[in-house]
Amino acid sequence: MPKAKVAIFISGSGTNMAALLYASRLPDCPYEVVLVASNRPGADGLSLARAEGIATFAHSHKGLERADHDAVMERAAQDADADYIVLAGYMRILSEEFVSRWTGKIINIHPSLLPKYKGLNTHARAIEAGDRHGGATVHLVTPELDSGAILEQVKVTILPEDTPDTLAERVKLAEYQLYPRALASYVARAAQVTA
Ligand code: GAR
Repeated sequence: MPKAKVAIFISGSGTNMAALLYASRLPDCPYEVVLVASNRPGADGLSLARAEGIATFAHSHKGLERADHDAVMERAAQDADADYIVLAGYMRILSEEFVSRWTGKIINIHPSLLPKYKGLNTHARAIEAGDRHGGATVHLVTPELDSGAILEQVKVTILPEDTPDTLAERVKLAEYQLYPRALASYVARAAQVTA
């Protein structure tokens, strides 16, 4: 079966992108990474992707309307022949037009156990609420922020001494396990439906 082609969008360090990329090189992974793209030309993850021989693209969102910047990023994904757009720390809200053109084909990871704590500062909010667990969720992207169908989640215990930063660090370790697995099973399921 041909591998699904994924374009990964990042804004920052790109460590989830790296986890997705290295997982794609293991035997039997049903997806391959065809592009890493960013709205921040200096994003660390771009140099890692380049070093690993992956095509990269960057275009700042500054001075552009949201839908226009989305269209630039979308064109890069289309030029790379991507079947899926995978958001990995891509800190931009996507326009409804863009999301609607890729229904079921944009996937995101969010650092909370959705539907809890949509948006920003998820770890601080979980600690403040006295939650026993934080975690991460892989979900489909819909026009409403952090609200699409949940694909998979992983729980991370919150320790009494945790700060938002220490919790974020452990949640990321959990994300590196979760994201490649959730993406692989989603694209494999989709391939079976269309076969
Ligand atoms: C990850 O923890 C991801 O869940 C979060 O940003 C971090 C990116 O780290 N995403 C969001 O907050 C999206 N709303 P990375 O760049 O090292 O992968």
